[in-house]
Amino acid sequence: MIYLNNAATTYPKLPCVLEAHAAALANPPQGQFRGSSFGSYDFYGDCQTAMSCILGVRDRERIFFTSGATHSLNALLSGLDLRGKRIVATAAEHNSVLRPLYNLSQLKDNEIVIVPCDRFGKVRPQDVERRMTANTGLVIVNHCSNVTGMVQDMEAIGQVAGKYGALFLADVSQSAGCLPIRGDQWGADALVFTGHKGLFGVQGTGGFYISRKQSLRPFLYGGTGRDSSRLIYKTDAEYEYDAGTQNAPGLIALKAGVDAILKKGVEAVQAREQELVRFLYDGLSQLCGVMVYGQKDVNTGPVVSFNIQRLSPADTAYILQNGYGIVVRAGLHCAPLIHSFIGSRESKGTVRVSLSALNTMQEMECLLSALKEITKNVR
Ligand SMILES: Cc1ncc(COP(=O)(O)O)c(C=O)c1O
Repeated sequence: MIYLNNAATTYPKLPCVLEAHAAALANPPQGQFRGSSFGSYDFYGDCQTAMSCILGVRDRERIFFTSGATHSLNALLSGLDLRGKRIVATAAEHNSVLRPLYNLSQLKDNEIVIVPCDRFGKVRPQDVERRMTANTGLVIVNHCSNVTGMVQDMEAIGQVAGKYGALFLADVSQSAGCLPIRGDQWGADALVFTGHKGLFGVQGTGGFYISRKQSLRPFLYGGTGRDSSRLIYKTDAEYEYDAGTQNAPGLIALKAGVDAILKKGVEAVQAREQELVRFLYDGLSQLCGVMVYGQKDVNTGPVVSFNIQRLSPADTAYILQNGYGIVVRAGLHCAPLIHSFIGSRESKGTVRVSLSALNTMQEMECLLSALKEITKNVR
């Protein structure tokens, strides 16, 4: 099997991740609650430290772990005080942003404004600025599109948000581990990440960063192993965001993945993936009847979308999987709005090829040769 669906979840996981996960389950449990005396290893703090390097934020204690990006986005969007505020998001957002925005009861009276993107999936900072008002409370941007791989100019958009006094929330689910993230430099008030994609962790891990300056009502209340006699949080400073038993094996595995990436260097991972992406773009562009989305020759994430004329994305993915053992993903990729801008609405989405640093040039060649055969047969 050639697995090219890493934007959904990476496979295979790094051997060090598998080993760390298995060892964490095989050995006596590390402190079930962070403050507990049993278990000497602070897996939570260690994972915070590792993640602070990936996210480019200094304040590691403001990184909290959840079951993933979806959980984190729900926690932020329901816990930030956005009463009466305009919320600006982009057309490249994932449903883990869009659905909370349109469904959370706390946000039912908020004005949600969507900034368009161009046919490559790029959002222009000036288009964000055009939608800003003195009453805008939050700007949300997906750093790297999970449909076209397009990378947004986060620093420029962060400056726009800051100029209007709005919070800046970056979704780095697709970029964490694949692209440099500079949360502090972008002026990000919050960052959301997932563990099971470019960081090679297991499904059900991820988290968020929230700046110390922001007030966030917790999404979950419960035991934390600290100050257990306190029933009511009286001030924002007392809030805790790690209630309940933590996914210690998951966080230990996540840290192993992050350490491996930091050791290799995120820039080196990016360069390797770019090489594969460029090769793929060139190969796809030469195939008759293939429409490639996204922009060639700009640095993108490890994602390439395409369609074959007269074949639906679902049929193409089916033939690739069942005829050639190549796993890709077809459809809207949980990002429904971007397709009207990149021209894939009518075809009901795209075929998405998404890579990890473990994919090889040989696998790209296999994919291209399979597609050459498929396109010949549909002509
Ligand atoms: C851009 C983006 N944001 C958020 C998510 C949701 O991530 P999780 O699986 O951790 O909930 C995804 C997952 O596909 C994504 O691509």
